[in-house]
Amino acid sequence: RGPDTFSPTGQPTGVPQDKVAQEGAYLTTAQGVRLRDTDHSLKAGPRGPVLLQDHHLREKVMHFDHERIPERVVHARGAGAHGVFRSYGTAANVTRAGFLAEGAETAVFVRFSTVLGSRGSADTVRDTRGFATKFYTGEGVFDLVGNNIPVFFIQDGIKFPDIIHAAKPHPDREIPQAQSAHDTFWDFVSLHTEATFHTMWNMSDRGIPRSYRMMEGFGVHTFRLVDAQGKTTLVKWHWKPKLGVHSLTWEEAQIIGGVDPDFHRRDLADAIESGAFPEWELGIQIFPDTPDQMFEGIDLLDSTKIVPEELASVQPVGLLTLNANPSNFFAETEQVAFHTGHLVPGIDVTDDPLLAARLFSYLDTQITRLAGPNFAQIPINRPHAPVNDMLRDGFHQSAVHRGVAPYKPNSLDGGCPFHAGAAEGAYVEVPLEVAGRKVREAPASYADHFSQPRLFWRSLSPVEREHLVSAYTFELSKCYEQAVKERTLHVLAEIDPVLCEQVADGLGLPAPQPSQPPAAHLPSSPALSQVGREWP
Ligand code: HEM
Repeated sequence: RGPDTFSPTGQPTGVPQDKVAQEGAYLTTAQGVRLRDTDHSLKAGPRGPVLLQDHHLREKVMHFDHERIPERVVHARGAGAHGVFRSYGTAANVTRAGFLAEGAETAVFVRFSTVLGSRGSADTVRDTRGFATKFYTGEGVFDLVGNNIPVFFIQDGIKFPDIIHAAKPHPDREIPQAQSAHDTFWDFVSLHTEATFHTMWNMSDRGIPRSYRMMEGFGVHTFRLVDAQGKTTLVKWHWKPKLGVHSLTWEEAQIIGGVDPDFHRRDLADAIESGAFPEWELGIQIFPDTPDQMFEGIDLLDSTKIVPEELASVQPVGLLTLNANPSNFFAETEQVAFHTGHLVPGIDVTDDPLLAARLFSYLDTQITRLAGPNFAQIPINRPHAPVNDMLRDGFHQSAVHRGVAPYKPNSLDGGCPFHAGAAEGAYVEVPLEVAGRKVREAPASYADHFSQPRLFWRSLSPVEREHLVSAYTFELSKCYEQAVKERTLHVLAEIDPVLCEQVADGLGLPAPQPSQPPAAHLPSSPALSQVGREWP
């Protein structure tokens, strides 16, 4: 869609403009006018004032002034790579998605990220990691926007701004950069016990991966697959690294964070450059699409719960290989726009209320971050499938649309494509029945916040438990508010008395008894507990 570039003599070169660096015999302005000098401003005499008429000076500085775009509101720091996904064909019996057919090969772009730090923050902090994959399939773009932790902090996306406000640096002093180690984060997760399981994963060794190449990835939500006959199956997505899962110790992470804050992005780029291409197997846990969408008593629409692999093993469906580094960080890693709503025929969403908010949020934020609605035209976001939409104009429109009638049916521009057969291969939502009272409430099946954290604690080896206890102790010791520490100990008591006692010991506080109600539950009228805005 980009215009061609032209040789210095005005002949089209056939090279898309977006592929050109500072090549050629001479520099030009953005208007293609040949430049004699780019190092000296136009002045009235060598020591005289700079003249306003110097267009080259103004153009050069103006463009520089606008080089930065807003960083992502979350997942601001990341590293990306290109690769290929090769399907084993083992999912072909549950989905009609072409890229999961036997032998299919699909180009991909993956972006790994930390969630909470700013774009310039260190890689080895304790945090959740993003693992987002764009599949450029022949049927359009499919994005699998996952994390390295299989559960999330909240059950309903309406609380996402709240958890992020609590976990980002304090609004007054803007510290700390790190996820934890501060009062508002611990205040939030101790008042919202649904966050207990995700927090525990963060405090475990999973919170400080050794390398992006050695992380698992999870789609977290349950998705719905559809086969060629329209039969549906529920699944959870898993990425399994061929190198295995490895973590840093806390001490290693601290030293590396100081010595090489770019450790993870350097590790990824160096590995790919040296030909040690990282690989992951994509797998699915498969569940029958029953009316209640439960499996073995687990609510599949609750993103704070896993389905243990002992109950549903992960079936490998294909292999991802990352084999090329981006050639331009800004153009690719910074401008890539993932979206949970980028789905292809054969894959649909479920009614997980966390997923519902994401389906709105990504597109919405990208309109600001990428300045307008045309970011699908940015090379890294372009589908590798023909695009024939009726979207027109807007900021940063680079397509030159032909025709006069961007509406259907029309009798001017080739008529209506919705003839018999035109819909073949089209995306069709699963025609599910929808009914219910309009309410703002969580289902009873979302109420258990401690069984899975307890299972997690019991599954850990002695050294992993030691690391977990140290992490809780260190992070909580950074809190200023005694009440926040005490309330968190009550939450830990609900998980396991030994975990609670050991952390309490480290903090020099008494360990509360299990099953004692937390010191403060959610206030019955949350509005009253808020610090009101100060009006001038
Ligand atoms: C960005 C994962 C929940 C809003 C991201 C990214 C990942 C991710 C991997 C980085 C994408 C990239 O590399 O560009 C997840 C997972 C979630 C979750 C696994 C829960 C299961 C949510 C929710 C919301 C949300 C509930 C909002 C209601 C955002 C926004 C961005 C983002 C606004 C920035 C996107 C951009 O600027 O392009 N998320 N997220 N996320 N997420 Fe989420």
